[in-house]
Amino acid sequence: MNALTGKHIILGITGGIAAYKSVVLLRLLIKAGAEVQVVITPNGKQFITPVTLSALSGKPVVSEFFTANTGEWHSHVDLGLWADAMVIAPATASSIGKMANGIADNMLITTYLSAKCPVFVAPAMDLDMMAHPSTCRNIKLLKSYGNHIIEPSEGELASHLVGKGRMEEPENIVAALEHYFATCDDLKGLKALVTAGPTYERIDPVRFIGNFSTGKMGYAIAESLRRRGAEVTLVSGPTVVAPPQGVNLIKVESASQMLSACEKEFDCCDIAVWTAAVADYAPACPSERKIKREKEAVNSIQLVMNPDIAATLGKCRKDGQTLVGFALETDNGEENARRKLESKNLDLVVLNSLADPGAGFATDTNRITIISRLGDMMVFPLKDKSEVADDIVNEIIYFRKNK
Ligand code: C5P
Repeated sequence: MNALTGKHIILGITGGIAAYKSVVLLRLLIKAGAEVQVVITPNGKQFITPVTLSALSGKPVVSEFFTANTGEWHSHVDLGLWADAMVIAPATASSIGKMANGIADNMLITTYLSAKCPVFVAPAMDLDMMAHPSTCRNIKLLKSYGNHIIEPSEGELASHLVGKGRMEEPENIVAALEHYFATCDDLKGLKALVTAGPTYERIDPVRFIGNFSTGKMGYAIAESLRRRGAEVTLVSGPTVVAPPQGVNLIKVESASQMLSACEKEFDCCDIAVWTAAVADYAPACPSERKIKREKEAVNSIQLVMNPDIAATLGKCRKDGQTLVGFALETDNGEENARRKLESKNLDLVVLNSLADPGAGFATDTNRITIISRLGDMMVFPLKDKSEVADDIVNEIIYFRKNK
């Protein structure tokens, strides 16, 4: 049976020339066994006729909030709840901007805002529109909402210019949906605990010892685990990254707070991923008042070692738990990572190097190597952190099946 059999899909079509490809997409979705409701924007109808779409889908196409001659109301809320997935293909720069900013001035965007299901967005536009900072920012926003972006490919565009902006081929869009439904229950029934971000160790009420971690990697891992069906608790140090939807977020400040929060969750978790960049030291006696700018303050801060959360909880691990740590190294990466596997009682260690351009803190990308207790070592190329997170989660699933 195809992973799309019986699935309710909303196919959203916006006003771009690639709308002609949506007919093939609709045909393929129906062939794969999905039930498809087309929702088209007023501009979409300039490119493709509702008659073709309703004939292929076997359902009247929805475009307006109500049918003019009968006054029949089309409920975007009911539609949003009906859908198992929504795919917007093509998604123009304008519609992406409206989705990113909640401008619900047509039936499609209103349905998008009501939908609780996973949303797949296949942008299609001219290369300069695609590269515009506004489009890039809006696509980034959609990603932060948990939407799946099906990246456009490079090639000849309707303008005859050549570049990135061609809507992905319908076969590949269907493959992305099939892959999603085939894998979304992989971790169903399992609990995952993820630490993320830096910790701040107070010196006084205005100063702290911290580090440059943004939390992006840990948040992406939490999101990826949730997408595969796990019930996720994310224990996060201070960060400005938007929390993924559908995870239980516990905000902490210091390493000792992070340890306390994790201790409460660890016993019942099946998977723990220690992504946080926990500060190694904390001031022994944080001052309750702001320390004055005086010479005596120099060298006056005594430090104590922070708890090692991964190592502490690794000591009381139970059968069936899968524990994953990170090793951010500047040199002797593999050797140090293998040592951490042992010292922190981990199953997998994710190695990344600050020496690698595009890897480490405060970037949207990462280049990782995963070393397993089973002896395997997997080297991955530089990727977007959301894809890196998916690679890590795939390895967790593989490890649990093969240990
Ligand atoms: O020893 P090192 O800090 O390099 O180890 C990194 C790994 O250990 C990461 O997975 C990190 O989240 C975890 N760790 C921790 N508590 C600490 C220090 C590191 O959980 N105090």
